[in-house]
Amino acid sequence: VFGWEDDPHRRNFAIGQPLDMDVPICIDLDRFVERSNGVFGKSGTGKSFLTRLLLCGIIRKQAAVNLIFDMHSEYGWEAVREGKQFSTVKGLRQLFPSQVQIYTLDPSSTKRRGVRDAQELYLSYDQIDVEDIMLVRDELNLSEASLENAIILRNEFGDAWISQLLSMTNEEIQMFCEEKRGNKSSIMALQRKLNRLGELKYMRPVCPRNYISQILESLAAGKHVVIEFGSQSNMLSYMLATNLISRRIHQHYVLKAEQFLQTKNPSDRPRQLVITIEEAHRFLDSATVRQTIFGTIAREMRKYFVTLLVVDQRPSGIDNEVMSQVGTRITALLNDEKDIDAIFTGVSGGQSLRSVLAKLDSKQQALILGHAVPMPVVVRTRPYDETFYTEIGDVAWEEKSDAEVFAAAELAKMDLGF
Ligand SMILES: Nc1ncnc2c1ncn2[C@@H]1O[C@H](COP(=O)(O)OP(=O)(O)OP(=O)(O)O)[C@@H](O)[C@H]1O
Ligand SMILES: [Mg+2]
Repeated sequence: VFGWEDDPHRRNFAIGQPLDMDVPICIDLDRFVERSNGVFGKSGTGKSFLTRLLLCGIIRKQAAVNLIFDMHSEYGWEAVREGKQFSTVKGLRQLFPSQVQIYTLDPSSTKRRGVRDAQELYLSYDQIDVEDIMLVRDELNLSEASLENAIILRNEFGDAWISQLLSMTNEEIQMFCEEKRGNKSSIMALQRKLNRLGELKYMRPVCPRNYISQILESLAAGKHVVIEFGSQSNMLSYMLATNLISRRIHQHYVLKAEQFLQTKNPSDRPRQLVITIEEAHRFLDSATVRQTIFGTIAREMRKYFVTLLVVDQRPSGIDNEVMSQVGTRITALLNDEKDIDAIFTGVSGGQSLRSVLAKLDSKQQALILGHAVPMPVVVRTRPYDETFYTEIGDVAWEEKSDAEVFAAAELAKMDLGF
């Protein structure tokens, strides 16, 4: 029922095995990427490992192109693995060197970790919209009044609203308020608080290059993009950059999708894009979901060829309507009743599965249900180890012995009929 990985008619990926049998459980990746999906489970149950497995599958089978917001620097390059001894596992760039590009918002940290050719990535004030600021209103401690005044500033100054505001003197603010009916104390508070943006390493008042266009070019060329945050992974920094970049990339996809609808020319068809975000409930809780690009993407489904892979330890924090749009849910152990309820939002017959979820092992077990599997199933997650690397990764010829390389060359020649 769950198919085989080498099925020529499907892009199947073996995510694990049933608890009591030695056969693969496959996810149909084409069905997987056409809807938004979620990886859930409480802390330390294997969400990041499951996500890394899924991403490897999508890359290997070319089911979509990935944009990954790698909050904890664990997908692109090496990640630490828990255990008695210190050990690390390989990141996507190591497994697929020619297909994955790392961009970093903290170049010195990325370099320290031994990543050699990461692209630097800077953002500028003129790329920030009021909606990006609304998302981080708690982090910046902004009042409703400050946000309303931000809109007045934005209407007046356009893209330059933040640089204008930061350069205004008190007298200028006073004059502005008299003319445009702004509120002086709110604007001064806004100015004071937005000054914190200058502390973000990757934020520049102006940028000579548009780095987001560069990411778009990478994606259009079929490269998978991992964005590392390094020391810039606090919530303010993570949420701001993630929303801002995704918003622009989505805008571009909407244009491309509309063009494709008009021409119906297969060469105009945008590549399916999967955006991976950690701490997803921060972007998708009921209070913010209407303001963030992620709410839009989750609700519009496959229309514009962009879907989400949300990773979260607190699914009950995610808006119900968004949760019911999540096509495939891959869930490791959860204890909290509310979180368990959230997983079964919009699933008929969920009751009998509830007990299954609370009884999973605390590691390497998960319940998979939804669009990409024929029926709900519990798996022992595929081990992410040396065996997996050789099964999934691109062959790194420089690491192989001469004998192995020559043997492979002979085989290849025979294939070609020499
Ligand atoms: N498929 C797997 N293969 C090998 N090891 C695994 C696998 N899944 C989980 N583990 C083990 O479980 C540990 C915890 O997994 P992981 O880091 O993915 O948890 P998490 O749910 O992302 O935690 P957090 O909420 O803290 O981010 C790993 O360090 C690893 O030792
Ligand atoms: Mg994790």
